[in-house]
Amino acid sequence: MASRRGLLRHLAALSGAAGLSGCSRLLAQRAEAPTADLPPNPLAAELPTSQHAWNDRLHTDAHGNHVPPRHYRILLLELEADISKESAATVERAMRTLEAAYDYRPSGLLHALAWGSGYFERLDALEASPIRHPKVLSRVDTPDLLAFDAALVLASDIPSHLAAVDSAMFRSRTDLGGDPVNDRLGDVFRVAERRTGFLGEGLPAAHADAEGVPDSLPESAPNFSGFGTGRRETQATEERVTIRDGPWAGGTTMHLSQLQLSLDSWWERPASEQVAQLFGPDFEPSEIDMDPSLPFSDKVEEHAAEEGVVGHFEKAARARDENGEPRLLRRDFDSADGGHAGTEFLSFQRELQDFERVRDAMNGWWLRDESSQITDRTNNGILEFITVRSRANFYVPPRDERAFPGSG
Ligand code: HEM
Repeated sequence: MASRRGLLRHLAALSGAAGLSGCSRLLAQRAEAPTADLPPNPLAAELPTSQHAWNDRLHTDAHGNHVPPRHYRILLLELEADISKESAATVERAMRTLEAAYDYRPSGLLHALAWGSGYFERLDALEASPIRHPKVLSRVDTPDLLAFDAALVLASDIPSHLAAVDSAMFRSRTDLGGDPVNDRLGDVFRVAERRTGFLGEGLPAAHADAEGVPDSLPESAPNFSGFGTGRRETQATEERVTIRDGPWAGGTTMHLSQLQLSLDSWWERPASEQVAQLFGPDFEPSEIDMDPSLPFSDKVEEHAAEEGVVGHFEKAARARDENGEPRLLRRDFDSADGGHAGTEFLSFQRELQDFERVRDAMNGWWLRDESSQITDRTNNGILEFITVRSRANFYVPPRDERAFPGSG
């Protein structure tokens, strides 16, 4: 890696620049960003500065909730080229190719290029970065703890857009949106893993042949559980998850966990039991709509002691911050990769600790003291139905620093 010494020197200067305010440090970093040789992104003014800011581009439902895109593809990447200005220019030009080919909205293509704990380790900058390698976060799962260099997150309502981008960036396609493709992410990265998925009415039913779900999934199911998610006030705002100052300002952290679903017995249960386990035992099935606020009683211990069951939502909501705001912006979707039903749990949060706090609340181990009917998995929200297969952590830089963040 020819430029590695220079990179390390620059990082040391960044982290040691105690006299500089966070803001001037950021400006110093931007001035030296490895893509500085390129002219400014011609579409910059039309695009959100944060790569994770999709909400303004999403449709809303009748209740004002953001409607997630219907199709997803995450390409988990390993660096094959040196970390250099040339590689950074290739990456930046490749991302601009996507922006030129598709409108940044679900009818076109939403995307984000995130950088993993593997990359920051290569830079010798994991400590100074906003992320770390993933950890095991529950005592009933033994996930693979993965360290990728990067992840290209793609989402669209049009599945062929995802296939076209994948092929143009990493396989054989030579044009996108009618223009030739001159810069490919595949010149810098190798695809280590592909994760695909979907969300929204009709799509879970179309994948009902996957293991872990019954063949008879209703057309109306928006995901494999049958219950809509993403009510507006249960989601962190994009502003809440954005890093506020310091060298990583304007970006966010991204956690990706791969959950395997075993929902055959879930679908045999009456709606009242499903609702008790997903939301809480004081919710009636008839009350479950997509109202953005989803009010709850915050009585998890009482529910454990008196009902012998607690809901996933009421547990997770206990991890809200001191202002009562959710910490996670969940952009998870369902998957039938490998022929098995799963959820790719993609989550943005200002710091990874936010995710860990929520996962701890979701584990609900302390509730076993309230009732012998509750174990680490049984009657404990939806833990009986999900197994964590892998975890990985990433940093999502702002758009103008998306090529090799922290290396300029
Ligand atoms: C298949 C897996 C999952 C399903 C079906 C599911 C479903 C739901 C549902 C229905 C809600 C109610 C609010 C809404 O989204 O409209 C919810 C809330 C939530 N879930 Fe999940 N969830 C799953 C996994 C997870 C995981 C793995 C985490 C993170 C560790 C998580 C964290 C949360 C959080 C933070 C909330 C909002 C709590 C609040 O309002 O503060 N969920 N989930």
